[in-house]
Amino acid sequence: MATMNAAVRQYIDLLEFLCEDLSDAHELPRIGAQFCHAVVLSTGAKNAVEIGTGYGYSTLWIGAALQETGGGLITIDCDARKSAQARQHARRAGLDAIIDFRQGEAAEILKSLEGPIDFVLNDADKNSCIQYVETLLPKLSDRAVVLTDNIHTHSVELADFLFWARSQPSLFSTEVRVGNGMEMTIKRPGVAETP
Ligand SMILES: C[S@@+](CC[C@H](N)C(=O)[O-])C[C@H]1O[C@@H](n2cnc3c(N)ncnc32)[C@H](O)[C@@H]1O
Repeated sequence: MATMNAAVRQYIDLLEFLCEDLSDAHELPRIGAQFCHAVVLSTGAKNAVEIGTGYGYSTLWIGAALQETGGGLITIDCDARKSAQARQHARRAGLDAIIDFRQGEAAEILKSLEGPIDFVLNDADKNSCIQYVETLLPKLSDRAVVLTDNIHTHSVELADFLFWARSQPSLFSTEVRVGNGMEMTIKRPGVAETP
């Protein structure tokens, strides 16, 4: 099994620097992206989905972990320009073979995905988080992890989502005080979903 290579690490540092000058990057803080990387590594996730590619900063951190677990990532963004630039960054980092860039509305693309899905970074439209996770629920593998960013910085927009996620019998969902605040939602094995 490979370990995170120096070239990928260097390119991530460069992209982090480039994002500082982009007012619309809204990338995860480094600690949040590293947490995603850590969750993929520790769970051994193979099939990952990212909702909200942006310029690909979190994408590269997740992709670097999947390179070690032998997995792959589908990343979704409705912004064609950002999606194209993120694809370029992935190519330059040497991760393009394991990242599948999908450009379009997340709600539509999520419906078309097949399971099992082991890891999700949920970082796009905050008002659609219930819809996104509801669509993914039947496709999540046992103990799959969904990380939803911005629960501290967008607490009003995400209040309904948090209530919903924490009330589902088939999920365990809790706050993680890292970066912008993340909700860590885990699919419980053997618990039926509420219809
Ligand atoms: C916070 S940024 C993602 C940042 C990225 N995760 C990172 O850390 O580098 C959110 C992204 O979600 C995308 N987005 C917003 N609403 C969307 C939707 N309905 N469908 C798909 N993408 C959407 C935006 O274009 C934007 O690039």
